[in-house]
Amino acid sequence: MLDKNLVKNFIKISSLSAIACYPHIGKKNKELADKAATDEMRKNLNKLDINGEIVIGEGELDEAPMLYIGEKLGTGNGPSIDIAVDPVEGTNFVSKNLPGGLVVIAASRKGYLFKAPETYMEKLAVGKDIPYDAVDLDFSVEENIKNISESKNKPISNITACILDRPRHNKTINDLKKLGVNLKLITDGDVAGALLVSDEKYNVDIFLGIGGGPEGVLAASALDAAGCKFQCRFLFKTENDIRRAKEMGIYDLNKKYELHEIIKGDSLFCATGITSGDLVSGVKEKNGKFYTETLVAQKGSNINIVINEEANT
Ligand code: FBP
Repeated sequence: MLDKNLVKNFIKISSLSAIACYPHIGKKNKELADKAATDEMRKNLNKLDINGEIVIGEGELDEAPMLYIGEKLGTGNGPSIDIAVDPVEGTNFVSKNLPGGLVVIAASRKGYLFKAPETYMEKLAVGKDIPYDAVDLDFSVEENIKNISESKNKPISNITACILDRPRHNKTINDLKKLGVNLKLITDGDVAGALLVSDEKYNVDIFLGIGGGPEGVLAASALDAAGCKFQCRFLFKTENDIRRAKEMGIYDLNKKYELHEIIKGDSLFCATGITSGDLVSGVKEKNGKFYTETLVAQKGSNINIVINEEANT
């Protein structure tokens, strides 16, 4: 468990990064929005008394200005901390002023967060109310949905599945449609998409499909805290992906990972709203102050929404 002060600092850093991004909302420039959040995050992480290392960062998928995997952060005086970041999750949402743009940071003691190259990942998540063996990444869509229906004792027509709206998911989406499942088709932002299974209030029974690997590890941190099930499989397609995977010690390229292999110990998850979405409200400016909402997930404590107030300097 991270000490209370460090937890507060990570929440504040997430909040400040969202505020740094605020002027870029609706400016149709993803790169500038990402850079503003990244620069602010790096500046503040470097002030922390930690031996920090980025284990999940930005990179090749969107060629953003990155906090790169292996980057050392902090003053060097203090505990060894692994940090996973997505300074802007949903760059399209921010640049087009649409709901759901987030700053996301997860942190843990050294060695607890899976260090993964930036590739795609096949993912599946369900809430804690589904028996562990009822769903599986290797089951058919039909089997997973029927088992959810049975365990929740509700008809398939009342089950909702969240999935990124991408051509690569055409078959899965068609299978879900044929079964009569309600779809929540998200255009981006699958960290938030996965988290929708963590609470009944979001009315999502299963999250599935292929999205970013870094986003998968970040979501896994919050899902672990919420006691949910998460499974994933990295998709190493190019020679470069395979080389990077091997450099990071991943030799079984088809391995199906369970949550405890991705999040190996207690972690802290923070997601601050840049634009308002399902999980949190976006940055608000009022009377010379900024207000942010950060969803904070930590094992052993409830998922909380923390409100921060910062002077508009
Ligand atoms: P960015 O914020 O980096 O643009 O990522 C948004 C996102 O939708 C992620 O949430 C998701 O994991 C990934 O992109 C999916 O990638 P793709 O758009 O290539 O399908």
